[in-house]
Amino acid sequence: MGVEFGLLWAPGSPDRETRYFSPASALQFYFLPGKNNRGELLCQLHNHAGSRPPTGHFVALISWISALAGLLFGYDTGVISGAILFVQKDFSLTTFEEEVVVAAVLLGAVVGAIFGGRFADRFGRRNVLIAVAILFIVGAIGTALALTATWLAIGRVIVGVAIGVASFTAPLYISEVSPANVRGKLVSLNQLMITIGIVASYLADYGLADMRGWRWMFGLAAIPAIILAVGLLFVPESPRWLMSRSRAAQARSVLERIRETSEVDVELAEIEASLHQQQGSWRELLSPALRPALVVGIGLAIFQQFTGINTVIYYAPTIFQFAGLHSASAAILATVGVGIVNVLLTIVALRVIDCAGRRPLLLYGLVGMILSLGLLGFAFLSSTLSSMVAWIAVISLALYVACFAIGLGPVFWLMIAEIYPLKIRGRAMGVATVANWGSNLIVALTFLSLLHVLGRPWTFWLYGIVGIVAWIFVYRLVPETKGRTLEEIEARWRTRVQQPKSVT
Ligand code: BGC
Repeated sequence: MGVEFGLLWAPGSPDRETRYFSPASALQFYFLPGKNNRGELLCQLHNHAGSRPPTGHFVALISWISALAGLLFGYDTGVISGAILFVQKDFSLTTFEEEVVVAAVLLGAVVGAIFGGRFADRFGRRNVLIAVAILFIVGAIGTALALTATWLAIGRVIVGVAIGVASFTAPLYISEVSPANVRGKLVSLNQLMITIGIVASYLADYGLADMRGWRWMFGLAAIPAIILAVGLLFVPESPRWLMSRSRAAQARSVLERIRETSEVDVELAEIEASLHQQQGSWRELLSPALRPALVVGIGLAIFQQFTGINTVIYYAPTIFQFAGLHSASAAILATVGVGIVNVLLTIVALRVIDCAGRRPLLLYGLVGMILSLGLLGFAFLSSTLSSMVAWIAVISLALYVACFAIGLGPVFWLMIAEIYPLKIRGRAMGVATVANWGSNLIVALTFLSLLHVLGRPWTFWLYGIVGIVAWIFVYRLVPETKGRTLEEIEARWRTRVQQPKSVT
């Protein structure tokens, strides 16, 4: 039995109250008998809310079902990269038409996010998810049967609307049914499913390429969409949303299914008390108390995209070909490898997110992204494309994706599901989500032009510079939310305004 030791960096002071919002960092030294694994260790050191019993199987099950929306998000955004090659030939698309077909999903997602928030607050999280599942089914079948380019583009817009709404409604729902001490892990199941969906889409594109099966590529998405729709019939409505619509009896009966009996009254009272403080209006979101939450959500949304993740997700084979992997199959294989790294590191993030906290994952992850983007830029500086350059490019891209998967990937969607008051949670998340999809669209539309204007090294360094700004933003403005109930998180924004000197 060995001894494990090392340095642990965690934001905040040991004091329970100040730790929550203090961006100051602390270094802790630990050493423990080697049989403790690092996950347990981090929990022991950090999880002050760790006294709660583990989540019941039922909460886990309903979280997995809702996270199928993430699978569709990942699959339907990833699938176009392979499908477009055949669509372009079959419909003889001009460059502009091709761009429209590719961008249709992102446009739809922006539209979905604009309207979806209002619907989630008005009609309930579950009902909106059911509507989304139906849209996914219609979109998948519609695009698979498309007879014209316009038909296909409209189908992809419909899929995009579903993605835009699903991207925040699924995390929103899961955050509202999860106990505080495992909320990070359960909400991030959605991100895990996104990454699995992306790999599944690469594999489907690869497997169906020989038969030019673009219709199947789009149509296959109907299978998880049907499972999602059926699964949702067995999922209860969010107890928090029910409370916000004054349906306390129903909220209680849902809570009784997903919490220990002894916890139900306390949680109901907490939600009730918190609702009393809320107006549920846009004005409230712009008030001095909640404006910082709005800034955090929009800021993280923009940084998640402007640090360039989707240049890799959407254009990885092209980047690998720049680096000298000329054969298409080598480039595709490397792309699948990057997708798998994304999945694996998201699993690591899930394991530590409730122990280590959100801030350290964001801050460490960003440092890794900045360094790997720097390295990638240097690889492209070299005028001769040796196999060494190709390897540096592959390794730095994998490292970059790994660091995204550990931090900004899951933490953005988790945080926006945690930091807004219940009555306007859907709408506020919708705003952050619009910012996310809008930024995604801008990056996707400008990447190739940037390469042309700035050259390869500076394009990637530019994303790295955005990463540095993001690090400062997170360090100064983003609160730690681990282990807190959603009501406690909201209360902290309000007390922060009342006692400005007590928090940083
Ligand atoms: C982002 C997507 C991205 C995906 C990659 C998500 O969190 O919002 O834009 O494609 O992660 O894993």
